[in-house]
Amino acid sequence: MTNRQVILAARPVGVPQESDFALVESPLPELGPDEVLVRAQWLSLDPYMRGRMSEARSYAKPTGIGEVMPGQVVGEVVESGDRRYVPGDLVVGQLGWQEHAVARGSALRKIDPRLAPAPAWLHVVGMTGLTAYFGLFDVCRPKPGDTVVVSAAAGAVGQVVGQLAKAAGCRTVGLAGGPEKVADLTGPYGYDVGIDYKADDVNAALKEACPAGIDIYFDNVGGALSETIFRRLAIGARVAICGQISQYNLAEPELAPRNLGFLIVFRARLEGFLVTDYSHRFEEGLTRLAGLLRDGRLQYREDVTDGLDHAPRAFIGLLNGENRGKALVRL
Ligand SMILES: NC(=O)c1ccc[n+]([C@@H]2O[C@H](COP(=O)([O-])OP(=O)(O)OC[C@H]3O[C@@H](n4cnc5c(N)ncnc54)[C@H](OP(=O)(O)O)[C@@H]3O)[C@@H](O)[C@H]2O)c1
Repeated sequence: MTNRQVILAARPVGVPQESDFALVESPLPELGPDEVLVRAQWLSLDPYMRGRMSEARSYAKPTGIGEVMPGQVVGEVVESGDRRYVPGDLVVGQLGWQEHAVARGSALRKIDPRLAPAPAWLHVVGMTGLTAYFGLFDVCRPKPGDTVVVSAAAGAVGQVVGQLAKAAGCRTVGLAGGPEKVADLTGPYGYDVGIDYKADDVNAALKEACPAGIDIYFDNVGGALSETIFRRLAIGARVAICGQISQYNLAEPELAPRNLGFLIVFRARLEGFLVTDYSHRFEEGLTRLAGLLRDGRLQYREDVTDGLDHAPRAFIGLLNGENRGKALVRL
């Protein structure tokens, strides 16, 4: 049986090109003891993958040239050497950009499609939902009445942050690029105010939307946009540095934010975090998120691309802001 995989063909300079990826066919490895053969159904596309394509120092080892691109997958068990799994089980795991994968049973987790649809385990009740949950509640510690500002607010993480903050009694202001995404912010994601950072005067819009300042800033983008947002913090503000997507394709980081002096003025706290730091509490987060989803209190939008061959194009689109909702590939 042959497998189809997307490998890293070259290290990108700047924005990745389709030629940085290659679609290859290879034989499937034999199943060893305790191993499971999974047929992928859904592949998650995430900004962190850009970091893995680079050799710059990070929290995870870079993907080697010729190695399968990393990625989380939901798939179906085809064959199992691990007694915990039987053919037909749906599982989630870090299986990479490929149609089939052999993995140790301990590296997989069973999912229950009666609790949430299969692809949702890659986002709203998966990694991006958990990022929103722990980043908001543990890093930012919202109080009712707080004003919460979120950048990349219409994306996979941002759409959940806004809804969790609103449910916690906060006033929510989201920033996104373009009128369609801004309509999603104040529509399904329930933000009180949506700002189109590409078209609006962000400083003036924030001044109007946050007259008493920003108590919480959930930062997904960094750079000059964050510099503008720092100007409008409130005293005692908490800033979660979740992502810096505006910087991922730059050969040299932007020289912003330059106004860290405002952190003194506002006695603000900035804290970076990684969702994986909370792996011991994932069950707690997933139970909360699945409960909100079941009760119809968590809306989401998926941006689905069909076929592994189109994954590189869809990934480049994600980095360029073309995804409207959580970026997924259906295999
Ligand atoms: N710390 C963690 O553990 C953790 C875990 C998951 C994700 N993250 C980070 O969280 C952030 C959001 O991830 P996601 O999966 O939810 O992705 P996403 O928001 O669904 O997609 C990325 C979005 O970023 C926006 N963007 C791209 N370039 C930008 C720029 N130069 N300036 C402003 N916005 C830009 C685009 O939306 P617009 O059209 O609105 O610009 C794009 O659609 C990323 O930075 C990611 O690295 C961190």
